[in-house]
Amino acid sequence: MVDVRILVTGGTGQLGSAVVARLRAAGEEVRVLSRRAAPDVVRGDLRTGRGIDSAVAGTDVVVHCATDYFGREAGMARTLVEAARWAGGPHLVYVSIVGVDRVPLGYYRAKHETEQVFAASGLPYTIQRATQFHALVRTLFAGASRLPVLPVPRISFQPVDVRDVAERLADLALGDPAGRADDFGGPEILAAAELAQAVAEAGGRRRRIVPLSVPGETFRAYADGGHLTPGHRDGKITFARYLAEQGDAGVLRYRKR
Ligand SMILES: NC(=O)c1ccc[n+]([C@@H]2O[C@H](COP(=O)([O-])OP(=O)(O)OC[C@H]3O[C@@H](n4cnc5c(N)ncnc54)[C@H](OP(=O)(O)O)[C@@H]3O)[C@@H](O)[C@H]2O)c1
Repeated sequence: MVDVRILVTGGTGQLGSAVVARLRAAGEEVRVLSRRAAPDVVRGDLRTGRGIDSAVAGTDVVVHCATDYFGREAGMARTLVEAARWAGGPHLVYVSIVGVDRVPLGYYRAKHETEQVFAASGLPYTIQRATQFHALVRTLFAGASRLPVLPVPRISFQPVDVRDVAERLADLALGDPAGRADDFGGPEILAAAELAQAVAEAGGRRRRIVPLSVPGETFRAYADGGHLTPGHRDGKITFARYLAEQGDAGVLRYRKR
């Protein structure tokens, strides 16, 4: 096996750490970027550019899992692309979200713009869009699960496990640049009401769930399934299995579609 020198940005995060684990288990040489000093990381900040040139130098592939929740991802991507040019043009693998061009959220717009930065870079690139991670969906409903009556939006989700997404990203990182790859979705599409009930029951509670329509174009885009990819139920780990692994008690009862 030929060693590939791979940098994982966001390698300390939820998805990135799963990507690092996957690649290392496959025997790959992996470098992790972080803003913070820690053992086994190279320090760098994609917002200021500090440390990025040396982090990217000598790599064949960069898996870009770092994110910014204030809409500044495109600027971070430009910094990465610039460093990648100096480093001889490693393959850039970017993780985005299904529906970034359909759901009018600021964070999604920034990710769509970021996709375009990579596509226009002239460098070898792969963009992988994925659906919502299990942990995000659990968090969405966990806080409210203490209420006796739980209002939830009348929309569905297709939650996916980061380990499944990490497996796909690792395969892409070790393969040829693919441009925009096929979307990657979770194994099931479930109504928010079912997911909320599953979270409540996993916490040992039963709640009356009340699905509500919410006004506004963002809700409409979600209700129309703009964030779903029904033709790509690629993930294997279900939301029920994820909740069970979290150590929550209770029986999960929800209907599969
Ligand atoms: N959550 C979801 O449901 C979902 C669904 C589909 C796709 N995605 C995408 O998956 C990617 C990873 O998400 P996640 O939930 O794993 O993220 P996360 O756990 O919040 O981790 C964010 C990572 O970004 C790094 N980071 C932030 N600002 C940085 C900067 N200025 N310079 C360098 N690194 C920086 C952090 O590293 P340090 O703090 O160590 O510096 C951290 O490792 C994101 O692009 C996200 O949009 C998420």
